[in-house]
Amino acid sequence: MIDLRGLVDEDCGRLFRWRREPEVDRWMSDLPVQSESDHARWFEGMRRDPDQRGWIITYNGDPAGYLTLTGLGGRHRRAAWGWYIGEPWARGRGVGRAAQALGLDLAFLDIGLEKVWAEVLADNDTALRAQAAAGFRREGYLRRHVLKDGEFRDVVLLAILAEEWRARRDLVRRSLAASHLIVA
Ligand SMILES: CC(C)(COP(=O)(O)OP(=O)(O)OC[C@H]1O[C@@H](n2cnc3c(N)ncnc32)[C@H](O)[C@@H]1OP(=O)(O)O)[C@@H](O)C(=O)NCCC(=O)NCCS
Repeated sequence: MIDLRGLVDEDCGRLFRWRREPEVDRWMSDLPVQSESDHARWFEGMRRDPDQRGWIITYNGDPAGYLTLTGLGGRHRRAAWGWYIGEPWARGRGVGRAAQALGLDLAFLDIGLEKVWAEVLADNDTALRAQAAAGFRREGYLRRHVLKDGEFRDVVLLAILAEEWRARRDLVRRSLAASHLIVA
């Protein structure tokens, strides 16, 4: 079963390791933090920052990935979505999709957002398929928007509205529950 839990002190080192995983890093627009002490400063600042929230994705209780919403402090009731599965053993088996359904419930039903949006590198097929499955829609396409490893890369802008998630959530949750990824 997939779950989301709040951050604890021990997650600092875990996030440092995960964010530097090549399979995670290759899909991120920014460089990873280079030193562990800079990362620790970022982690502490992030936990105190009302503008953002982060959760650890767990798989049968074991930490597997990270999910974050940023921009919560604005008056527009929207936030930017960020996520990755840090543990290689947890990728490609529906963990991301299950975490996504739980994260969208937090965003729309608990926090009361109106919109969640995301920037995804245009060739990140796994993320694009997973997000489309939850009901994210394409809102834009930014050409040569990110300089990554010496190459300019295109970015897709995705978003989902509260009413769109409400309309889709039962279907998405039923399918995840049938795969024993979340509780029905
Ligand atoms: C993007 C990411 C978070 C998605 O998480 P994931 O767990 O790997 O992805 P999914 O939940 O979609 O599962 C992947 C595949 O497993 C399949 N799957 C396997 N068992 C499944 C099950 N029981 N139920 C549903 N899907 C299942 C899915 O269909 C999917 O296949 P598809 O993409 O061919 O349709 C993850 O791949 C990741 O961390 N990638 C690197 C970092 C990254 O790209 N982050 C996002 C930046 S925008």
